[in-house]
Amino acid sequence: MISVILGTQWGDEAKGKLTDYYAGKADISVRFQGGNNAGHTIVVGDETFKLRLISSGVVQGKDVVMGNGMVIDPAILLEELAELRSKNVKIGNIYISERAHVIMPYHKQEDVILEELKGKHKAGTTKRGIGPCYSDKVSRIGIRFVDLIDETVFREKLDVVYDIKKKFFSSLGHEIEHSKQDIINEYGKYADFIREYVTDTSVLLNEANNAGKRILMEGAQATHLDIDFGIYPFNTSSNTVCGGVCTGAGVPPKSIGTVLGIVKAYTTRVGTGPVPTELEDDYGNHLAQKGHEYGTVTGRPRRCGWLDLMLVKYSHMLNHLDGIFITKLDVLNGLDKVKVCTGYEVEGKNVPHFPSNMDIFSKCVPVYKEFKGWDFDTDSVLADGLDSLPKAAKDYLLYVEKALGIPLFGVSIGPKRSQTLVLNEIF
Ligand code: GDP
Ligand code: IMO
Ligand code: MG
Repeated sequence: MISVILGTQWGDEAKGKLTDYYAGKADISVRFQGGNNAGHTIVVGDETFKLRLISSGVVQGKDVVMGNGMVIDPAILLEELAELRSKNVKIGNIYISERAHVIMPYHKQEDVILEELKGKHKAGTTKRGIGPCYSDKVSRIGIRFVDLIDETVFREKLDVVYDIKKKFFSSLGHEIEHSKQDIINEYGKYADFIREYVTDTSVLLNEANNAGKRILMEGAQATHLDIDFGIYPFNTSSNTVCGGVCTGAGVPPKSIGTVLGIVKAYTTRVGTGPVPTELEDDYGNHLAQKGHEYGTVTGRPRRCGWLDLMLVKYSHMLNHLDGIFITKLDVLNGLDKVKVCTGYEVEGKNVPHFPSNMDIFSKCVPVYKEFKGWDFDTDSVLADGLDSLPKAAKDYLLYVEKALGIPLFGVSIGPKRSQTLVLNEIF
């Protein structure tokens, strides 16, 4: 049985927190796309985990899979494993897809160089080499884990690609910072460490599914950062939508059961590009401060605004969400009013659906519905379910559920596990 958790906005919706919760009932927890551009936070007691590569289910001691759709920086993987061990996490089995691509030092350098050259078209990437690694995959000059763990093949492939990169970098007025020999030495050490984890994870997942195991797919980034459907070119380089589960983990569409969309109670965005509901006033400051909206990966301040249902509706169309989980509701506490964007207008005319044209998108003016504000104690309100919340907060949640036409599976009112109201399970 396969269930999926996806971000419905621009990332950082608290996918990590909900993956940690739902992984409690799963056997295997999987990442199927992206790399260490993700930053997923899990708070357990006094301990905070910030996972970049390994699926959040690792904290629950579950087996974890890094699927073929991922791009993996081995140095970060080793760091992450060491950190988990230092925090006494009992780590389950680790499986890395033979087909996943390896982030190389020149990918990180290329990320920085290309961002500089792109001027106003830059995405404000995390500079972790994500885009260049996916570019090489598509150009068929990438290095996969199956190559990395075979010294001869690795050297042979690196010979070819290093030459290409040298010419490419030099045409842009740069030199590759790392010598080929340094890369061979460094990545040789990674290979020795990682070899035992590398396998055909597609076979593993299909066999596990056929044997009745519960498999949790943890999306990274979010629908509006998808390479096809995100706000191109300010998006990431992988398919973050539900279809990405099939291509990124190697499982068939019909094996997918419940799809849960995580919806932050307001909007945030790290990076560049238009954000129609962005608030550059006291309300925006309230959201940023109270929500601690600073990037988990880069520490950059996140841009904040009101909840934008146009984003989530489009996510629903692409992913067919069986349920939504609304997170960070507590961050809206203490405001005199709360707004929700229900549609867009350009020059007074209704925009029927989320636009693909960035020029139109940048002109979209949100249409708002306004709610009364509320306040509640984030440590003591959940005993009576939704009725424990102030009426205004409950009205807000029920409005969002109805406007989207997607059942509310739960509400999160703080980073801790205890600050979670689960109305529906996904396994
Ligand atoms: P992800 O990338 O979707 O996993 O989300 P991040 O971990 O990047 O960002 C979510 C942040 O909000 C983390 O710091 C979480 O600890 C925190 N968080 C999660 N749920 C809640 C919540 O309901 N309320 C508040 N105030 N913080 C939350
Ligand atoms: P999680 O999984 C928020 C954004 C970057 C940039 C664009 C491209 O924690 O929700 P990239 O380095 O991927 O080439 O950058 O995508 N971005 C994220 N924003 N949360 C994330 O991940 C993100 N991963 C990438 O800020 O605008
Ligand atoms: Mg994050």
